[in-house]
Amino acid sequence: MNIIFLGPPGAGKGTQASLLAGLYDIPHISTGDIFRDNIKRGTPIGKEVKLIIDAGALVPDDLTISLVKERLKREDCLKGYLLDGFPRNLYQAESLESVAPPDMAVNVDIDQDILVSRLAGRRACPNCAGTYHVSAVPSELCPVCGVKLTVRPDDVPETIRKRLEVYNSQTAPLIAFYGQLGKLLTIDGNQSIEKVCGDIVEGLRKE
Ligand code: AP5
Repeated sequence: MNIIFLGPPGAGKGTQASLLAGLYDIPHISTGDIFRDNIKRGTPIGKEVKLIIDAGALVPDDLTISLVKERLKREDCLKGYLLDGFPRNLYQAESLESVAPPDMAVNVDIDQDILVSRLAGRRACPNCAGTYHVSAVPSELCPVCGVKLTVRPDDVPETIRKRLEVYNSQTAPLIAFYGQLGKLLTIDGNQSIEKVCGDIVEGLRKE
């Protein structure tokens, strides 16, 4: 099963993709996590993308597409994939259709005031890439590996605004793109993590 996630920053794409990866035993591939890992390791890619990501803009398509194509060739993707953060524009979506088309695009729909509070309260583990909300995990330490949690550099108000603009202008049109292909499953993302996950599983089962 090949699944992609659509939805604005903070909609819960990463949270849901990580849960479904465990349920379906297919890899959760987050382009944001791939870039952040490169930044952390100081690789040439990390150096190239750091300022772009910190500004809330999109990394150039050719670099992003080639990283995703390489990742999809790995053996763990033979059973499928859960792509979180890709595609983000029409060009990326068309390139994915030509190599490993998704069976379904899960569109996590959410009210803007809720997502701003989710991003403002998000804490990320620099070691295992787990993400938590301060209301659910008030400790400063990652519940999985014990490392001190940090605030993502792009989770500051000005960059959040920029990321939302980019989402609305470049990524939101993909909702119509996948709708026309008959591959769209829209889920109410304003609910609890468990309820959103249950609705996705139920929706995928019916398709
Ligand atoms: P990326 O890492 O993909 O960021 P994003 O799309 O902005 O999405 P987020 O990770 O912010 O949100 P999410 O929807 O995954 O929410 P989460 O589950 O964490 O990309 C970062 C950057 O990399 C981009 O800006 C761009 O520069 C670059 N990039 C990446 N892909 C690219 C591409 N394809 N092309 C070009 N550039 C690219 O949840 C958020 C918070 O809410 C968490 O604290 C979570 O615990 C909490 N939460 C989640 N669900 C719920 C719920 N139901 N109820 C209560 N709390 C919840």
